[in-house]
Order: sequence, then structure tokens, then C-alpha cells
Amino acid sequence: MDKVLQDQISYYRARAGEYDEWFYRVGRYDWGAERNAQWFAEIETVIQALRVLGKVESALELAAGTGNFTKELAGIADHVVALDASPEVLEINRDKVKNPNVEYRQADLFNWQPDEQYDLVFMSFWMSHVPPEKLDGFLDTVRLATKVGGQVFMVDSLRDTTRTSSASNHADYDPESIYHTRKLNDGQEYTIVKMFYDESLVPKLAEHGFTAQYHTSGDYFWWASGVKD
Ligand SMILES: C[S@@+](CC[C@H](N)C(=O)[O-])C[C@H]1O[C@@H](n2cnc3c(N)ncnc32)[C@H](O)[C@@H]1O
Repeated sequence: MDKVLQDQISYYRARAGEYDEWFYRVGRYDWGAERNAQWFAEIETVIQALRVLGKVESALELAAGTGNFTKELAGIADHVVALDASPEVLEINRDKVKNPNVEYRQADLFNWQPDEQYDLVFMSFWMSHVPPEKLDGFLDTVRLATKVGGQVFMVDSLRDTTRTSSASNHADYDPESIYHTRKLNDGQEYTIVKMFYDESLVPKLAEHGFTAQYHTSGDYFWWASGVKD
């Protein structure tokens, strides 16, 4: 597993410059006007759910990536700490978001402990890369990073039955496996963890001190939001 988790970091480092093709439905991720429109509508549903949380002073974004949600967080928090293992994605994020209230830190989330607590801890498309054996440890870290009464918000991929979430040249997800083989545009292949956490995350979050709810947006996304007791 340690090797896969290192590969996962290498994959996102190598993919940094092409990562947004997934988010913006370009190239291998372009599944046609209708599907793309649904994707963006569901993204909007998630963004609206995030905005409902209201303004906060401090937010921590885990696995911030190229900043597609960092700019939203910068709109609701006075100060955002955006953390990721990849210096390449953090650089793209910085250029895209251009907000002095966002502080960037490079860290491997499986070997990281928070040194402060935040009003909001946010992660998008990160939970699916946390293998079951690391879930309890990771949620402990999230609890430590959240102020009492503070909020957690996580969004990630549903097990999409339309098969239009991933790239056209990626294999279907194997329901028996927690791994997925990913390809870059140049054909290089990496194995990563891809989990599809469901409502059972709610009692799991409760074990880690959060009262949370689980929602879905349609075909593509789930999100969970909760408060630290
Ligand atoms: C699917 S992307 C999500 C990025 C962003 N949150 C978004 O919504 O687009 C996963 C991110 O996790 C980062 N990552 C992978 N392994 C990591 C690790 N061990 N610690 C911290 N970040 C990691 C990658 O660099 C990548 O930016």
C-alpha cells in the first residue's frame, strides 16, 4: 500500500498540467454537451451547498490540487491554508487563485499532523484516495484540525453508472477492487486508490466526533458536511 500511496503522489505531480481537463471536461473527459452540462450543474449544486456554510475566519483545504475549490474557499474564509503533496499543483493553484489570503503548504497527508485548528476543514476529491486501512487515522487528523463547533465538508465521486466521470480510455471501475489504473495523455500508467465512500461515512464520522449528513448531486458527486461536537 505504501508504494501505491507514493505512486498516487507521483501520478498527480505528473498530471498537474493536464489535471483541469478532467474538471472542465476537455479531451478524454469530454463526454458530449448533455453529459458535460449535467456535470457542471452538479458541480454548481455542490458549490451552493458549500456556500450555505456561510462565512468563516479560517479554512484548511486538504489535497487542494489546482485550486478549483480553493477560489470558492477564499470567498467564504478570511484565511485559507491549502495543503497538497504536489508542488506542481500548488503552483498552478497559486497562479489561478491569486489571493494573498491563501497560504500554500506542501505536505503528505498520510504523514502530517495539524499544528492549529480551523473553523472549516474542506477536501474535494481526496477521500476517494484514502484507503480503508488509513480511514480512521485520517479522520482522527481531520478531527484534530477542526475547532469544536467547526465544520467539515468533503465532496467526492459517486460510483457513476453512466461511466462518464473518468477518461474515455480508462478501464471501468472494478467493484471488487480499491485500485484503478490511470493514464496520462502521453499513455504513462499509474495505479491509484479509488474508493467510493457511501452513507456509511456518517456513522464513521460520528466515531471521530462529527455530526454529519451525506448527500448526492445526481450521477456524479456525493458530499458530506458536518459539525465537530
Ligand atoms: C483528485 S485530486 C483533487 C484536487 C482538488 N482538491 C480538486 O478538487 O480538484 C487529488 C489531490 O491529492 C493530492 N495528493 C495525492 N496524494 C497526496 C498525499 N499523500 N498528501 C497530500 N496530497 C496528496 C494530489 O496531488 C492531488 O492534488
